[in-house]
Amino acid sequence: METFYITTPIYYPSDKLHIGHTYCTVATDAFARYKRLRGFDVMFLTGTDEHGQKIEEKAKQALVTPQAFVDKIVTGKGGILDLWKLMNISNDRFVRTTDDYHVKSIQYIFRRMYENGDIYKGAYKGLYCTPCESFWTQNQLVDGKCPDCGREVVSAEEEAYFFRLSKYQDKVRALLESGDFLEPASRVNEMINNFIKPGLEDLCVSRTSFTWGIPVDFDPGHVVYVWVDALSNYITALGYGNDKYGDFDRYWPADVHIVGKEIVRFHAIIWPAMLMSLGLPLPKKVYGHGWLLLDGGKMSKSKGNVVDPVILAERYGVDALRYFLMREFPFGSDGNFSNEALIARINSDLANDLGNLVSRTVAMVFKYFDGTLPECREPDEKDDELLSLVRALRGIYEKSMEAYAPQTALVDVFKVISRANKYIDENLPWLLAKDEAKRARLATVLYNLLETVRVTVTLLKPFMPESCDKIFAQIGAAPDQVTWDSAARFGLLNPRASVQKGEAVFPRIDMNKELEALEALNAPVEEQEELPSVTIDEFAKVRMTVCRVLSCENVKKSDKLLRFDLDDGSGKVRRILSGIAKYYKAEELVGKTVLACTNLPPRKMMGELSCGMLLSVEKGDKLQLIILPDDMPVGGTVC
Ligand code: MSP
Repeated sequence: METFYITTPIYYPSDKLHIGHTYCTVATDAFARYKRLRGFDVMFLTGTDEHGQKIEEKAKQALVTPQAFVDKIVTGKGGILDLWKLMNISNDRFVRTTDDYHVKSIQYIFRRMYENGDIYKGAYKGLYCTPCESFWTQNQLVDGKCPDCGREVVSAEEEAYFFRLSKYQDKVRALLESGDFLEPASRVNEMINNFIKPGLEDLCVSRTSFTWGIPVDFDPGHVVYVWVDALSNYITALGYGNDKYGDFDRYWPADVHIVGKEIVRFHAIIWPAMLMSLGLPLPKKVYGHGWLLLDGGKMSKSKGNVVDPVILAERYGVDALRYFLMREFPFGSDGNFSNEALIARINSDLANDLGNLVSRTVAMVFKYFDGTLPECREPDEKDDELLSLVRALRGIYEKSMEAYAPQTALVDVFKVISRANKYIDENLPWLLAKDEAKRARLATVLYNLLETVRVTVTLLKPFMPESCDKIFAQIGAAPDQVTWDSAARFGLLNPRASVQKGEAVFPRIDMNKELEALEALNAPVEEQEELPSVTIDEFAKVRMTVCRVLSCENVKKSDKLLRFDLDDGSGKVRRILSGIAKYYKAEELVGKTVLACTNLPPRKMMGELSCGMLLSVEKGDKLQLIILPDDMPVGGTVC
């Protein structure tokens, strides 16, 4: 059986995934399902890219170990595995770069490239974008910022290993210029003009300034650069360099790596060069799809403009969301996401065109023939156009799917669905039903409609697997009538076709009501300011002291201020004014143990001197004073 190996990028488990990530995975899933439908032995791989400085920093902020941090996002409730399950992603394997077998393989890969002279030790001095885990030179920056994400870069200087990327420049260029290795074609020019022509520099492939990575086994102070670690997932998950899996010879080279446009350079330049160094065959294709934008800009948590796929899938159905993502945007270009476009697309294509075709056809077979067609037929040349469109559809669809143009494939399927709706209006079955002599003609019209549904829905199945099965049940199509082969044939359903009643597969959505509801649900997330980091020395300058409240009163003429006299353990009474009168009654705080910053300069408030600040916690419009257990030692400081 012919194999087909297809991959998504492996996702960073640094935040919850959004609709953009879902887009990439759903597209890959649709291609994988399409190839399975065609009878290929498919290996569909996805996974998570769990190492690197960004994850290490996020875990530190969350006060957990990096492993605990990624475990929660990958396998925890509502995590990445749950999202792919919800979206009905049919991956055959899931790789985590923290899996033992992957770690072992990376050490093997790094050692092989070192031993064959393609990795050497040097010193790295340059710029680094931590969110993208990318090295940059000064002249690659755009307005002094990372050219990929537009964020600040930092200077990095450390001992490092380098990969001789420059050595592979000509071979990589030839690869890019040959045939259709990289698609769409516009991405080839981007790679050549932006990276190859200016000259490929050797790539820094190890880091020493943080530890959350795979140690270089012959020099453990170094961890392997996260992109070398990540790209190799495509072969480690088949068993290259480990004995967890044994499918390398069966599936490698990959038929296609589906990736977003910003990571094409890693897949189309660095990855082939690494494989050349390892003496391995190259993937047959890299497809760089476009981005889903929101209001014309990139979705990102820091902008607070991410769209949650779980909310949309739960409200409108997984298949409707999957369909929208594949139908609305040309795969190779960027597209603007909007709730309005989503609802309009579901209503027009799924509820109206497909939903109506199925429900009207099934309802008429019930109404006029009690659910089972009679065998009599009366073909008419009026049927020819619909029948020839249905017969030609599989070939047209196949061309688009093979060209990674799922949008075009769907447009063509829906042209036939619309034609079938028009065929109902042309043949007026409700009038045929009034005349006993036209029963054979009526049965023919309904049979042709059932056949059109069978063929079109077979081709829609890679996009909407569950809904299509529901429709097959309604039109009484057996599994062997909804195969790839049967999608090219007309007239496969039993002449005495029986239909089943079922609920509407795609209910209509009330646009205005839903837009309001979504707006309320997606109320702008509070801007997550990226705070500048403080050094440990700066932090140590802040003195936070445990104090006991000796007395507490409202400050006259102020609604906000409470006056605290505190025992701070120094033997003197410390007075602090705090603006928390709205939240607490003065008397309830007497005797409490609290935390105060005690080395702020004294400050006058409402004519009185305040020597420090009481620490509280604030979220939204809520504020809570930090009240410590009574056995905290007064005068003790936070360290
Ligand atoms: N970990 C790397 C990939 C390593 S592959 C060896 C990575 N991860 S990611 O989580 O940031 O992105 C994963 C994929 O999601 C990328 O292909 C990226 O382009 C895609 N998308 C993220 N946001 C997107 C949109 N808004 N729209 C479309 N795809 C987007 O990069």
